Amino acid sequence: MAKKRILVMTGGGDCPGLNAVIRAIVRRTEQEEDWEVIGSIEAFNGLLRDPMEVVLLDSKTVSGIHIRGGTILKTTNKGGPFHWPVKNADGSFSYIDRCDDLIARLEKLGINAVVSIGGEGSMDIAQRLFEKGIPIIGVPKTIDNDLSSTDLTFGYQTSVQIATEAVDRLITTAASHNRLMILEVMGRDAGWIGLSAAIAGGAHVALIPEIPYDIDKVAAEINDRVENGRGFAIVVISEGAKPVGGIATSRDSNQPGYQNKILGGVGHRLLEEIQDKVDVEARVMILGHLQRGGSPIAYDRVLATQFGVKAVELVLESKFGHMVSYRHPNVVSVPIASAIEEYNYVKLDSALVHTARGVGISLGD
Ligand code: F6P
Repeated sequence: MAKKRILVMTGGGDCPGLNAVIRAIVRRTEQEEDWEVIGSIEAFNGLLRDPMEVVLLDSKTVSGIHIRGGTILKTTNKGGPFHWPVKNADGSFSYIDRCDDLIARLEKLGINAVVSIGGEGSMDIAQRLFEKGIPIIGVPKTIDNDLSSTDLTFGYQTSVQIATEAVDRLITTAASHNRLMILEVMGRDAGWIGLSAAIAGGAHVALIPEIPYDIDKVAAEINDRVENGRGFAIVVISEGAKPVGGIATSRDSNQPGYQNKILGGVGHRLLEEIQDKVDVEARVMILGHLQRGGSPIAYDRVLATQFGVKAVELVLESKFGHMVSYRHPNVVSVPIASAIEEYNYVKLDSALVHTARGVGISLGD
């Protein structure tokens, strides 16, 4: 008899731990005699291409991948079933809804359940597909930790570790030259990575999107630190940070099907705004995609593995329309709809903000 099939995919920006989830899904599924796992390459795009790009996943395929960064299934933050780019004769693009085609292809492949591993955008697509009748489970991933309804997403702690190592290294060069070093980190509209790395690394200023910064206060803090401290200063700035009354530094992408704004460059903007106000030489370092690359730390491997096992259990319980969620110390599930209702900002009255202020980190306000 033909086995029942789980279709798994990874969507959105890659993040350390994706392979550990895939491996856990395959290993847990193989404990069920009548189920098997198929992977779609580049999120739903593999399924929607002609010929389809799908692969059978077994324990041999996923052996040892939990320690590897990236995703063996590839990923994309372009296209998708509701926004499929079609090239016009004049070279421009139109976008079409291919949901019905997707449903037909799932049927053709004999898919009984879909597991979508992704961030906010992927969960939004998952919810829309669920409303169209597709039996889907969500697994939250993102280095940004900006998904609500889960205490943490895997990948986030690894990126904090990488950003912290950057602060550590910048401190020794800043101290040697008596410089101000500005470190720009990722995180989109949330300051989780920036604030955590600032605390872990011992930065002097942390500028996050949730707290618009007052440039004069930031300059005063740096001057005080340079004059009365050890002669150098470290600022960690999240890519979505903005001055009071200003907006985030971003640009549009010219890639067909890419719907996000590209954030980045606020570190240089800060340098321009501050260089005449401080009595210290300054340099900027943009950490960029280094924060997403490479091996997940052990914490994220464990979380990702827990998420993979739970996703299969939700499939077996037919708990479709749900997303795996970590609620310390348990791995539970929540309706995908509730997970995308709210964006997970750093709350101003949170312990993390309180702690940063408690050790004297200026938040620019
Ligand atoms: O969402 C993860 C993230 O790395 C953000 O922190 C960043 O703004 C964005 O993705 C970058 O995306 P891309 O892969 O398109 O450069």
